Amino acid sequence: MNNNSLLADSVVDSAAVESASPAVGRSQWSTRLAFILAATGSAVGLGNIWKFPYITGENGGGAFVLLYLGCIALIGIPLLMAEILIGRRGKHSPPYAMKALAAEAGVSSRWQLVGWVGVITGFMLLSFYLVVAGWAVAYIFNAGSGAFTGASGDEIGGMFGALIGDPWVTTLWGTLVLAITAAIVIKGVKRGLERAVGIMMPGLLLILLLLVGYAMTTGQFARGFEFMFSPDFSKLTGTSVLVALGHAFFSLSLAGGGMMTYGSYLPKRVSLGKTVMTIGLLDTLVALIAGLAIFPIVFANGLEPGAGPGLIFVTLPLAFGQMPLGQWVGVLFFVMLSFAALTSAISLLEPAVSWLTEKRGFSRLKAGVLTSAGIWLLSLGSVFSFNIWAEHKLFGKNFFEVLDYLTSGWIMPLSGLAMAIFTGWIMSRAATHDEVGDGPGYRSWRFLVRYIVPVGILAIFLNAIGVLG
Ligand code: PFF
Repeated sequence: MNNNSLLADSVVDSAAVESASPAVGRSQWSTRLAFILAATGSAVGLGNIWKFPYITGENGGGAFVLLYLGCIALIGIPLLMAEILIGRRGKHSPPYAMKALAAEAGVSSRWQLVGWVGVITGFMLLSFYLVVAGWAVAYIFNAGSGAFTGASGDEIGGMFGALIGDPWVTTLWGTLVLAITAAIVIKGVKRGLERAVGIMMPGLLLILLLLVGYAMTTGQFARGFEFMFSPDFSKLTGTSVLVALGHAFFSLSLAGGGMMTYGSYLPKRVSLGKTVMTIGLLDTLVALIAGLAIFPIVFANGLEPGAGPGLIFVTLPLAFGQMPLGQWVGVLFFVMLSFAALTSAISLLEPAVSWLTEKRGFSRLKAGVLTSAGIWLLSLGSVFSFNIWAEHKLFGKNFFEVLDYLTSGWIMPLSGLAMAIFTGWIMSRAATHDEVGDGPGYRSWRFLVRYIVPVGILAIFLNAIGVLG
């Protein structure tokens, strides 16, 4: 019997899906905390520390933060529950988990497309994610060498330009990030993923707290706080809502296959509601705290909050170069950013590796090497976007920006819509109830996922393409 017929058997037998035991040989997290650290590690990443502050800056501050928080609470957290639920009940990599649940619900196996989209999105995301992660790692050494000390804005802008403008150097740093990511993933759920997040997540949280403590001493903490929390709706741009929604997806790692795969290693006894709320809250807190660490430093040095993607690679180093102990604050900052990026990168590689080991019976080594080779090739497109392909643009966007825009702006929200419909309308109430358990939490979740999430996503889309004016 080959793997496919094995799978078909377990799919037809819905009792197998119902059973509390994992699919034969499937790894499981050792503790609830291990899962929380891994899932929070996936959620907390470049999105929180690099992207959130700069898009908040570009979209005027407080009002955008409010929009974002609304998207997280009403759309993101219910969908995070939906995605982890699908993984845990389906007990396979995303395509097969969806297939198993479609069979359980008696609907077309085409629903597995949602799982495929997850695996492919993870693959695409990692290809450009590792490029930015590579910049972060390179910056640990730049900061440590004292290169920022006393440097002018032009000099630091020049250093960043020289880094991203050099395809060889950026490829090298990106390859290093991918190699570390693959090495962790290849070691498996317990010996690889759990150990890595067990070291990096506490390290990251500690460094973040140290940095906020530092920001409080800059004398501009109140100004940073006000920028982030006093809403001025006139500052929102036409696309702010879509950006906020896309970022809620990106930040919670929704629809990238990672959360579904991590869910498939989650034992049945763990309560989903509390766990999901903890991950959502931690992710949001880290984004807000990162903003509170970064904006006071920006204001204290008379810098521009709306500086765009270069905010933490140009603006912050300028500030590090001028402040007392700045060399060490800079090193800590970029170590934190690299940890955050790595714990997210492993969740982007895991879905494809988990699928290949399941489908082809490959070892994790073989699956990890093969997938990484593919991702590495695709990542060259993002590396070249800032140098040899800088002039090649589609609708004014380079390759890197097209990938980012397609995934966060379109694919992830659309596949979120599909997951909401699937868990809210296609899966039986009994099945979702069996996963989530009783209580007011279940009823609120079901209401949100059936009505608010689909209507919210559709309204934001129609608004974005101009249908609602
Ligand atoms: N959540 C990560 C971040 O904020 O950087 C990015 C990410 C990881 C997106 C995993 C999607 C995913 F599946």
